[in-house]
Amino acid sequence: MTLKMQKLSFLNNQVSIPAKDLTLPAPDQTQLDAILQCAMSAPDHAGLTPFRFLVIQGDALHDLSEVFEKAAILRGLDPQAVLKQKQKPLRSPMIIAVIACINDNPSVPEIEQILCAGAATQHIQIACRQLGFGSIWLTGNNCYDLNVYEALGLDINERIISFIYVGTPCRELKAKDRDNAKKITLDWNSSQHNDFAI
Ligand SMILES: Cc1cc2nc3c(=O)[nH]c(=O)nc-3n(C[C@H](O)[C@H](O)[C@H](O)COP(=O)(O)O)c2cc1C
Repeated sequence: MTLKMQKLSFLNNQVSIPAKDLTLPAPDQTQLDAILQCAMSAPDHAGLTPFRFLVIQGDALHDLSEVFEKAAILRGLDPQAVLKQKQKPLRSPMIIAVIACINDNPSVPEIEQILCAGAATQHIQIACRQLGFGSIWLTGNNCYDLNVYEALGLDINERIISFIYVGTPCRELKAKDRDNAKKITLDWNSSQHNDFAI
């Protein structure tokens, strides 16, 4: 492997850390600013910046916990499941919610704007790792619950793309065995071409 290719190891070794294994310290303000700035270089068709961030830490994690609890009750969950939802935000010292802000743009369909917010999420995760923090991208029902949207102040054109749980890993980060990309890669050429059914 060439020296240049070795530089890719930080991506090959990228791993998510379970939320319960993330502890204090969370990124400080300077680190957080640097992490979120990395999201601004996510691929972005037409430069719409179709995303924004909510940073939730300290007492606000308890506020989010209450939001998840109330939303779970309104979804009709049983008491045990409600408690599970309530405890979710309390596992890590910081949560960054990435909100997709869907613009009405004739050349950039909704899916592309959502993908852009997803790419922003991934940039945040990689930036966290580079600064020595761990993170995990979690969604679940709270990401699609309009009561949660209202409590978090989302606009009608906005969606929660990710709750990124962030903190310091309380155990050593180990690279995972990953599938070989060759298994899902094809050199396409015209011999694999299917004629259009006209
Ligand atoms: C859009 C999206 C939503 C996800 N939501 C969840 C989730 O709600 N719960 C969960 O356990 N993992 C979820 N994951 C997967 C984790 O973020 C993570 O990728 C997984 O635990 C595997 O770890 P790895 O990234 O180290 O391979 C989600 C991933 C994506 C891309």
